Amino acid sequence: MARKIHTLAGYIHEYQRSILDPDAFWTQIAETFHWQKNWSSVVEWEFETPSVKWFVNGKLNITENIFERYLHTKKNKPAIIWEPNDPKEASITLTYLELYEKTCQFANVLIKNGVVKGDRVIIYMPMVPEAAIAMLACARIGAIHSVVFAGFSANSLSDRINDCKAKMVLTSDGNFRGAKTFPVKEVVDEALKTTSTIEKVIVLERTKTPVNMQKGRDFWWHEELEGVSKENIAETMDSEDTLFILYTSGSTGKPKGVVHSCGGYMIYTYYTFKNVFQYSDDDVYWCTADIGWITGHSYIVYGPLLEGATTLMFEGVPTYPNPGRFWAIVDKYKVNQFYTAPTAIRALEAYGLDPVLPYKLDSLKVLGTVGEPINEEAWHWYHDHIGKGRCPIVDTWWQTETGGILISPLAGITPTKPAYATLPLPGIQPIIVDNDGKELKGNSVEGNLCIKYPWPGIIRTTWGDHDRCYQSYFSQFKGLYFTGDGVKRDEDGYYRILGRVDDVINVSGHRMGTAEVENAINEHPKVIESAVVGYPHPIKGQGIYAFAICDMSDRSEDNLKNEIRVTVSNIIGPIAKPDKIQIVPGLPKTRSGKIMRRILRKIANGEHDNFGDISTLLDPDVVEKIIEDVDSAS
Ligand code: WT7
Repeated sequence: MARKIHTLAGYIHEYQRSILDPDAFWTQIAETFHWQKNWSSVVEWEFETPSVKWFVNGKLNITENIFERYLHTKKNKPAIIWEPNDPKEASITLTYLELYEKTCQFANVLIKNGVVKGDRVIIYMPMVPEAAIAMLACARIGAIHSVVFAGFSANSLSDRINDCKAKMVLTSDGNFRGAKTFPVKEVVDEALKTTSTIEKVIVLERTKTPVNMQKGRDFWWHEELEGVSKENIAETMDSEDTLFILYTSGSTGKPKGVVHSCGGYMIYTYYTFKNVFQYSDDDVYWCTADIGWITGHSYIVYGPLLEGATTLMFEGVPTYPNPGRFWAIVDKYKVNQFYTAPTAIRALEAYGLDPVLPYKLDSLKVLGTVGEPINEEAWHWYHDHIGKGRCPIVDTWWQTETGGILISPLAGITPTKPAYATLPLPGIQPIIVDNDGKELKGNSVEGNLCIKYPWPGIIRTTWGDHDRCYQSYFSQFKGLYFTGDGVKRDEDGYYRILGRVDDVINVSGHRMGTAEVENAINEHPKVIESAVVGYPHPIKGQGIYAFAICDMSDRSEDNLKNEIRVTVSNIIGPIAKPDKIQIVPGLPKTRSGKIMRRILRKIANGEHDNFGDISTLLDPDVVEKIIEDVDSAS
């Protein structure tokens, strides 16, 4: 086993080593894996175009490093424990052997249906074990999975299918979420009206919602499994072959397909999982994310399984059948590491302590957070009432593009500070620069967070458009990976993430591009123009505030706002619905026609003066008019 860090001195030592000799550091970790052929060099890189390759020319299959590597020692250990939406329904435990067999069997189903190495397979599914099996089965045969969060609309789904020219969709008849059932297959049918590359759809029966099965295209999951072998020889993958594509929003245009490759991602998710959560062999680990997000990929599926851990998957929502559900699950399975988002903590905190008190929560050893800055209040509530003051909190900062955690405490090892992601993990070299790209050295500085040296889990490209990868992450500050986040390094050298500095907002830990939401709003025929900004929201972290110029001739304001929300929901999905809409007579624009979002952000934040220099505005009066009417935002 590669090194697990046990002490602060150990962390400091490993960190130094990783900076002084990255090749030796990563070699020692990668050597503990099963490689079909060894790599010829550890890393080859430049951040100019960019080009990053790890474990160059190495051959492997990530699933061999989950199964074949562990089967002789962990065959009967639970790999996945699944808790259904309805607490009365039976849970499922899959041992490493069972998960292996199901993965191989489904891999054979994919092969039988014509999927070959390099093909793209869309996974649009609920949080059920089959979703993880589907990911692993793709990885087994070298197909590239792209998981699409099942809350996204038909339009978002077809955009993603078209962008990566996917061949197959894996889905379910419906999804249970709390008291509701969503007709998922129906969304797929709608999406496929505007795609041309999908040959087959395999449908898991989950809710027994009636579905329309198109002959020759749609097949039932359970029927496809009939008579199929549970043995499959893993495909040989190059270290730099694509493992998956995951779409995420940026400050411009449509979501981009973040590409992660096999070798580096494997090493990085494994190493960070092991050390950040300080997982020990008999622990039960639970991450509440959805597999549609990177957190679900790296820290429900790949990281934990590469460590041979027991990972819990939960189908439902935190408030069903009551707001004690998370804590009931912690007690039921004696969960040791619990990893969730600040927005979930704040939402549950709002119910008070009654839903928490019936539970012991004494199995918990480590608490984690991810996705957005955690406010001190929520941090203390989590620490005191869930962790009972005993459990270290790991505030893990990372991104879809980073593949795994970059800045975080190691549980119980790194002294924590509320709201601080604390220190970089071994191998991570953060650098803070001002807006001109000048490095801000030393402590007590604040600026743009960049990384100056590659780590194995870094994004390789954006699918089908490498220039977009360069433009989005490597063009602002020459030779550096730019994260889009603002950061402070305090007097102790600790990092505190301050939030996005670009046109990206973070709603309940979900990333949203303001341009993307604006484009959706503008689709409503009565909207002439709109501008979207984030504003502080007590539960969601940031809410979506839309300023819209509209033709009000034949609609009441309330009706129009509702229609706009439905439009956004149809185009992107319910998560992108604006929390507040303000109908405005105009938008603050420069003479060249650029919207001055800085001003709108201030207004949305409740600041009504100190706008700085507004002399370049085409019509400075419009700012006054918007402010006069802020109370109409709803
Ligand atoms: C953005 C990335 C990485 C998994 C979930 C979100 C924000 C993430 C933290 C944290 C403060 C955080 C950043 C980042 N973020 N973790 N611990 N503290 N902010 O992934 O959708 O790729 O979003 O989430 O702003 O850039 P994502």
